[in-house]
Amino acid sequence: MPLLNVDDYRRRARRVLPRLVFDYVDGGAEDERCLQRNRDALEQLPLIPECLRDTSAMDIGIELFGRRWRAPFAVAPIGLAGLVRPGADKLLAGAAQAAGVPFILSTASNSRIEDVRAAAPDAALWMQLYVMGERAIAERIVRRARAVGFEALVLTVDVPVSGLRERDLRHGFRVPMRLTPGTVLNMARHPGWLLRLARGGMPRFENLLPGADEAPVSAQAQAALLSRTMDRTLTWESLGWLRKLWDGPLLIKGLLGAEDAKRAVRHGADGIVVSNHGGRQLDAAPASIAALPRIVDAVGGRIPVLVDGGMRRGSDVVKALVLGASGTLVGRAPVYGLACGGEQGALAVLQLLAQETERTMTLLGATQVHELGPRHVDRPGFRSPSEQAASVPGLKENTLGKASIYPAHATA
Ligand SMILES: Cc1cc2nc3c(=O)[nH]c(=O)nc-3n(C[C@H](O)[C@H](O)[C@H](O)COP(=O)(O)O)c2cc1C
Repeated sequence: MPLLNVDDYRRRARRVLPRLVFDYVDGGAEDERCLQRNRDALEQLPLIPECLRDTSAMDIGIELFGRRWRAPFAVAPIGLAGLVRPGADKLLAGAAQAAGVPFILSTASNSRIEDVRAAAPDAALWMQLYVMGERAIAERIVRRARAVGFEALVLTVDVPVSGLRERDLRHGFRVPMRLTPGTVLNMARHPGWLLRLARGGMPRFENLLPGADEAPVSAQAQAALLSRTMDRTLTWESLGWLRKLWDGPLLIKGLLGAEDAKRAVRHGADGIVVSNHGGRQLDAAPASIAALPRIVDAVGGRIPVLVDGGMRRGSDVVKALVLGASGTLVGRAPVYGLACGGEQGALAVLQLLAQETERTMTLLGATQVHELGPRHVDRPGFRSPSEQAASVPGLKENTLGKASIYPAHATA
């Protein structure tokens, strides 16, 4: 079967991975309504092309946080990716480097921060932060990331408690682990995966554990780490604590409401990722693409707004840009690629998404990302603030040459 699109990679990943691992990656919370909503909302958003425009010179790149991205997406943080393949974080970072896009390393990653840097010396690496157990653990992660040149910090705020992942529970995949006999049997039927696991060893949360030369964490903190218990005393005021540790770009990932977006700006965030964690947290949450326009309005171009959730085609990425996102993240898509073919598989998916993005933009008649705008989207009854503003006589056009208060696919 040729692998023509992300869905093809997903189907093959389903075949090559044990059911427990595939379900861990593929699944969402509770009834998986939010997971589905992400897809439905994207599919229900037709794009309107503009024809007879010169598209002989295409450029789908963007510039964000002082870096040029070759395509308008970054690789999202994926915890416990080592379950898919040993060394997954390094392989994904290598793929992102080759594709010319940033890679965000999860706090719950299985390769050491320093090893990921060594595997992808030229990549734009960002560190995702969960604050779990003792704050000292987060502080150590931030310091280590900074020491090896990670360029941005992404604080994930939509996991005060882990979402209820019922697929995982059915397999007995939880802390403490109690695998069902069926799950164990199914693993045995995937010898390729099993052999790799035997060679690579069970994935460990390498960046949560203290190194040999570091102070040990308390027994209480260790238990919190194992059960992924978050520090629920974390508030907007805690951003001040992070700011003292990190002077680079600080992004907040996991916002869905306009008021929270304004709070993020007020508290000095440098960027926002509109996200429902790929449908893995609050099952009643809106599709992130549906939440995006309100947040873009609330932020009013002051900081870049990224979005993720359900991006499986280049056209999905373009839809996010059309609605005012400065860029996007892709999570499961490159992981399906990783499952099928390691680093090369992940790279193939990123290249596929870039090609689809370029083709979609060409079909829309846009040669650069900043040419995309609300006029390219067909939402019945949808009138973006920029369109409303454009109808006000005498309103000046912004520097992008369009009457828009959407962020200028901002460089920051
Ligand atoms: C298996 C898996 C693990 C994830 N782990 C993390 C994580 O450790 N930290 C985080 O901020 N987001 C995590 N996410 C959420 C992703 O970063 C991203 O928001 C989401 O996957 C985007 O949706 P998509 O997979 O439909 O592209 C995870 C997602 C998946 C599928």
